[in-house]
Amino acid sequence: METEIKLTYDQAMALAIDVAKAGAPYVSPNPLVGCVILSAENKLLSTGCHERYGEAHAEINAIKNIPEKDLQDCKIFVTLEPCAHEGKTASCAKKLAEYKIKKVIYGLVDPNPLVAGQGAKILQSAGIETEEYQGALKSDLEDLAEIFLKNFRHKKTFVALKVASSLDGQIALKTGESQWITGPASREYVHELRSWYDGLIIGSNTIVTDNPSLNIRHPRIKKENKLVILDSKGKLLKSIIDGKKYKFMEVHHKKNIYFATNEDMKSDYQIILFKDLNHLMVQLWDLQIKSVFVEGGAATYSSFIQSQLVDRFHVFINPSLIGANNGLSWTKDLTIPQLDKKIQLKNIKMRLFESDIYLTGRH
Ligand SMILES: NC(=O)c1ccc[n+]([C@@H]2O[C@H](COP(=O)([O-])OP(=O)(O)OC[C@H]3O[C@@H](n4cnc5c(N)ncnc54)[C@H](OP(=O)(O)O)[C@@H]3O)[C@@H](O)[C@H]2O)c1
Repeated sequence: METEIKLTYDQAMALAIDVAKAGAPYVSPNPLVGCVILSAENKLLSTGCHERYGEAHAEINAIKNIPEKDLQDCKIFVTLEPCAHEGKTASCAKKLAEYKIKKVIYGLVDPNPLVAGQGAKILQSAGIETEEYQGALKSDLEDLAEIFLKNFRHKKTFVALKVASSLDGQIALKTGESQWITGPASREYVHELRSWYDGLIIGSNTIVTDNPSLNIRHPRIKKENKLVILDSKGKLLKSIIDGKKYKFMEVHHKKNIYFATNEDMKSDYQIILFKDLNHLMVQLWDLQIKSVFVEGGAATYSSFIQSQLVDRFHVFINPSLIGANNGLSWTKDLTIPQLDKKIQLKNIKMRLFESDIYLTGRH
């Protein structure tokens, strides 16, 4: 229904980006997509997003909220080009073409060869103007669809890394003590972040020292991720075969737990034999794990960064000092030869969780 809220071109696309994020736990392997409909006078009429894989796309969810007559001469802002092909759902471009819409402004051309440019062509043939958005939010649109874009462009699993550190970059004491460096609000947000990715990766030492559950505990999100444990010598798995118990075993279904080791072992858990992280990532892609969330510890973070595998960093920084002498730095094994080779994050976003600074950026 028409509201009195008037939006500019950039504000409408910013809102479309925002509404898209509601689908983050459930759309894989599809992209996050958001849609905003404005009247001829640029008043906000409706919003919608792709909520879940296999279900309606963003444009369809946005148009179903308003009577057909309101679509007359409206403008539709959508973060990704409307799809041209029939998959689990009908083509959005063909559906939009049934209405007397004035214009469709889409954020990115769909990299899927079944769509690329075809969605726009269907709309144009129906007399609807189309425009690829060229405003200030282009980088944010790429960020929104980053998992899907990497999957399509490179046929590789997307890698996000999350770390909770002190201001001086320490994630624990040398003794292993690490609970807690950041506060409860940051830790709650981590549960939401976990849900954005298909799998979690954790080093064996973190399982032994912290005994984490590594499941998603969030009031609005029900999802179980795949869990990949880096246990190259199989020491952790051997101890489990010998009867040792850890919390993650109680909360994850066995079919979702993978031990990444260098030697084949007989176990009820799934084994991924791997030579190095690049080899592991190829196998995760083959297992249809389209995105992973690397949760530490220091050896694991460092080796992912050193191997240039990290696409996005999620860093929670508590304004406290621990000291490098008795601390454990999350980049302890990372070496750069000179400053012009430093790893620079791009399109940085920041917010506060109580007194913690949350910073995210892509590599
Ligand atoms: N504050 C935080 O955000 C945070 C998060 C997580 C953990 N932590 C802390 O970090 C500490 C543990 O860190 P950590 O550095 O000792 O251990 P870690 O990274 O948890 O585990 C290290 C083990 O993982 C395996 N591994 C890691 N990278 C590998 C690679 N590239 N190839 C093969 N295997 C690899 C190796 O297993 P093998 O031994 O089998 O070779 C290695 O010994 C704990 O104190 C924990 O509390 C803090």
